[in-house]
Amino acid sequence: MEKTSDSIKKEIEKLIQQINDHNYRYYVLDSPVISDEEYDRLFRTLKELEEKHKFVLPDSPTQRVGAPPLDKFTKVKHAEPMLSLDNAFSHDELRDFDGRVKRFLKSDADVDYTVEPKYDGLAIELNYTKGMLTRASTRGDGVEGEEVTQNIKTVMSLPMKIEVIDRVPEVIDIRGEVYMNIDEFEELNRGREKSGEPLFANPRNAAAGAVRQLDSSITAARKLHMACYGVGAVKGIAFKSQQEFVDWLRKAHFPVPEDFRIVQGVEAVVDAVSEIESKRSGFSFEADGAVVKVNDFGLQHELGVKTREPRWAIAYKFPAHQGTTKIEQIIASVGRTGAITPVALLTPVKIGGVTVGRSTLHNWDEIERKDIRVGDTVVIERAGDVIPRVVTVIQEKRTGSEEKFPPPSACPVCGSDVEREEGEVAYRCIGLNCEAQVLEKIRHYASRGAMDIEGLGEKNVELLYSQGRIRHFDDLYRLKKEDLMDLPRFADKSAGNLIEAIEKSKTTTMARFLFALGIIHVGVYAAKVLARNFEKLEDLYHIDTDRIVEIKQMGEKIAQSVEKFFSDKKNRNTLNTLKKLGVIVTNPDFTGGMPQKKGLPLEGKTVVITGTLARPRKDYEDLIEQQGGHATGSVSKKTDYVLAGAEAGSKLTKAKELGVKVLSEEEFMELVEGRK
Ligand code: IVH
Repeated sequence: MEKTSDSIKKEIEKLIQQINDHNYRYYVLDSPVISDEEYDRLFRTLKELEEKHKFVLPDSPTQRVGAPPLDKFTKVKHAEPMLSLDNAFSHDELRDFDGRVKRFLKSDADVDYTVEPKYDGLAIELNYTKGMLTRASTRGDGVEGEEVTQNIKTVMSLPMKIEVIDRVPEVIDIRGEVYMNIDEFEELNRGREKSGEPLFANPRNAAAGAVRQLDSSITAARKLHMACYGVGAVKGIAFKSQQEFVDWLRKAHFPVPEDFRIVQGVEAVVDAVSEIESKRSGFSFEADGAVVKVNDFGLQHELGVKTREPRWAIAYKFPAHQGTTKIEQIIASVGRTGAITPVALLTPVKIGGVTVGRSTLHNWDEIERKDIRVGDTVVIERAGDVIPRVVTVIQEKRTGSEEKFPPPSACPVCGSDVEREEGEVAYRCIGLNCEAQVLEKIRHYASRGAMDIEGLGEKNVELLYSQGRIRHFDDLYRLKKEDLMDLPRFADKSAGNLIEAIEKSKTTTMARFLFALGIIHVGVYAAKVLARNFEKLEDLYHIDTDRIVEIKQMGEKIAQSVEKFFSDKKNRNTLNTLKKLGVIVTNPDFTGGMPQKKGLPLEGKTVVITGTLARPRKDYEDLIEQQGGHATGSVSKKTDYVLAGAEAGSKLTKAKELGVKVLSEEEFMELVEGRK
């Protein structure tokens, strides 16, 4: 029997309620009652029903994600201005604040205060009209902010609809702090480091960047949280105090500040901020202080506002986590991309509950600027509670035996040359066979656009490395089937396949090989141009910058990098070893420097990139430009190709509607390289 549409509606409503309830248990109470798989199943069922019956309720959890990207943000005026807070930097300044409150109220009686952590994120206002989350906006200048509703909907702990409470107010503006957890922030940065994207300095910047994304799918991936702590305009409800308001928020399933408390009198406030401070390093989020508010809304009203700050609240700022210790040694550490960073090894010191034994010195400019020397006594700060750094050298403690630490003239790991480009602060190792970089190098070497070794993806490279099967670049060609057989994920067949794929990849083209070597600044295009101009690899062995710059498409930067790479004896030795191990490089692209007969594969073509891609988007944009094409943001009839990664959304749909050719990453690379 066909279901009536009423019963389908009911089923959908029930699923929404179930999912919202599980969201609340998971994201607010932190105590889920079902497994992730069960949750996913409910979500999928809802999505399928909604799609099948074209019936989507505005508070459906499916509406949190997948909104089409915006062109720009619209401005929103706050119904009531969003204020900022005065700061107190000591307990005595808190006592002064309490004194001012009492004087203003002309009363000696102890005041009731609420105390809660100050979240280090960004302030957001949520407008709920008739219970629905209707609009979310940034604080902006306090009077006017930007509308970021579709991004805030991705904050899973927020209800899309207020419903679990008896009387839903006509209108309520709820304010709070949007933030990112410290461990999620660190994971985000690890991922960015891997893909060569710039790192965020702290969770606040990462959260603020996420909220200001025009494409909410990026926001969703950042896993934002919110702590609600304030009320703006209201209609249809009244609260007597901060405590009553926070209780209401809790009942309505909103996330509220952890460790919220109410105390009587300023000495109890001092105890409370001290206690919150002592818990600081145990919080999952970054707290840069505690906020103290007069509890009673009547008194708040009486106290009023001075310019932009209320007289009834103050932020007690925690002192930065600092400590004093000695630099025992400085080492030059080589990162996976070859960047060399000076790191100070310290006499271990406890800072804010965490033992700190090393601190990055960032680069040699920084060492110079702060005049940091081995043996110095220094002030260390756990900046943003995350990465320890040297704030300053205590000059008075100098004995004269401290030693400067000059930049390296060779890589401390492999002994290859180092280079430092003009305008860049980092020194880099250019060694092809550098152990510190081998993982990254081999991953690139084996990748599709490079040597294209099937079955040697990121995971397997990591596995082979962590199991000690490859320590150097050329170890790849020394692998035998037996070396793989006892590894997890490998069986007789898969081990055989990988060895075969490595074998097969040994014959390659000069363009691919040059790209695969991962020479700094030599991308697919530069590699191709080099291949057109130089017949054999050996022709590059003693090349100088000037000769390369003569080539029209080659800039100074690439030229220097190529010269440096091939002038390194160790690199030339490694190349000769690869040859001995059976790598054969042919050069079908060589034209003696003449331009190719056929034009560039993307000559005059417009390409739109969408979805999550295996490589940084910037790489593809560069590639498109290099190949004569043009990357744009939106799909139209004029678009020639859409390069679609995983979870591509509205752009992909539009491309299909308009009949624009959609390419996977693989197809795109094939097109660019003219393989098919
Ligand atoms: S109350 C008028 N409570 O701190 C009082 N603010 O430095 C409005 N903040 O703009 C703010 N955690 O973005 C309040 N528990 C908390 C807070 C908090 C963080 C932020 C907020 C405010 C800034 C002032």
